[in-house]
Amino acid sequence: MMLNYYRTDDASWTARPLLANAEEGESMHSLRGAFSETAYIYGEANIWARQHIATAAHKVFSLGLGLGYVEILSAAYATASKTKFSCVSFEALPELTHAIQAWLRGDANAGIVPYEIYEDILERASRQTGAASEAIRRELANALDQGDWIVRGALAPDTDFTDARNCHVIAFDAFSRKTTPELWSREFLDRFLAEVPASKCVLSTYACTGDLKRALRQANFNLQIRPGFAAKRDSTFATRA
Ligand SMILES: C[S@@+](CC[C@H](N)C(=O)[O-])C[C@H]1O[C@@H](n2cnc3c(N)ncnc32)[C@H](O)[C@@H]1O
Repeated sequence: MMLNYYRTDDASWTARPLLANAEEGESMHSLRGAFSETAYIYGEANIWARQHIATAAHKVFSLGLGLGYVEILSAAYATASKTKFSCVSFEALPELTHAIQAWLRGDANAGIVPYEIYEDILERASRQTGAASEAIRRELANALDQGDWIVRGALAPDTDFTDARNCHVIAFDAFSRKTTPELWSREFLDRFLAEVPASKCVLSTYACTGDLKRALRQANFNLQIRPGFAAKRDSTFATRA
C-alpha cells in the first residue's frame, strides 16, 4: 500500500491511500487542517475526560491509527497531567502500525511514513498541551514496551474486544460510512457500545449518523451534536458520567 502526503491548511500533514486502480482513496483528515481537526474532535474529548473522570490512567480507544495524531495528542495530555498513557489502537494497514513503532524505536529504516511527519505532530501536540516533546515521545515508547499501548490490526464486526474494554476516551475515526460501512452499522455499534466504553466515558467522532445517534442514546450517552470541523456538517460528542 502506498500513501500520498499533503500539507493541509494549518500546514500539518494528511495522507491519502493510493488504490489498486491508481486512484486516490479518502483523505485521512480535513484538508482545512489535520492537526486542528484532531485537536477539536479528539483533543477536547481528552480534556473532558480529565475534568469528569477520576482515574489513574484514562484509557483511549482509537479507530484507526492512521498517522497517529490521536495517539500522540492523547499521550501529550496524559504527560501534561502526569498520568500514564493507556491506549488500544486499531489499524487496517500493517504498514502504518509498523511505521509509528519504527519511529518511536528510532529504527534507521523508516516505514512508509517519513519521520518528519511524526515529529511535526509531536511538536504540535507539545505546543497544544504544554508537555515537553521528549517527555511525550518517552511516554509513547514506554507505553508500547510495557503493553499499556496495544496496536491491533483491522477491526471487523466480529472483533474480540477483550483487551479494549473499559475505555474512557473513544476516538471513533474510521473512514466514512461510504468507505467502511461495516463499522457504522447499528448492529456493530450496539455491540461495540456494550463492550468497549467504561461506565464513565466520552465518545467523539467527526461524523454524525442516525444509527450512531440512536445507538448512543440506547447506551445511555448524553448526546451533543456539535458543528463539524471546517466545512463538515455535524460532529458527535457523547458523554456518560
Ligand atoms: C480517518 S483515518 C484515521 C486518522 C487517524 N486517527 C490519525 O490520527 O491520523 C482512518 C484510518 O482507519 C483505517 N481503517 C480503515 N478501515 C479500518 C478497519 N476496519 N480497522 C482498522 N482501521 C481501519 C485506515 O487505514 C485509516 O488509517
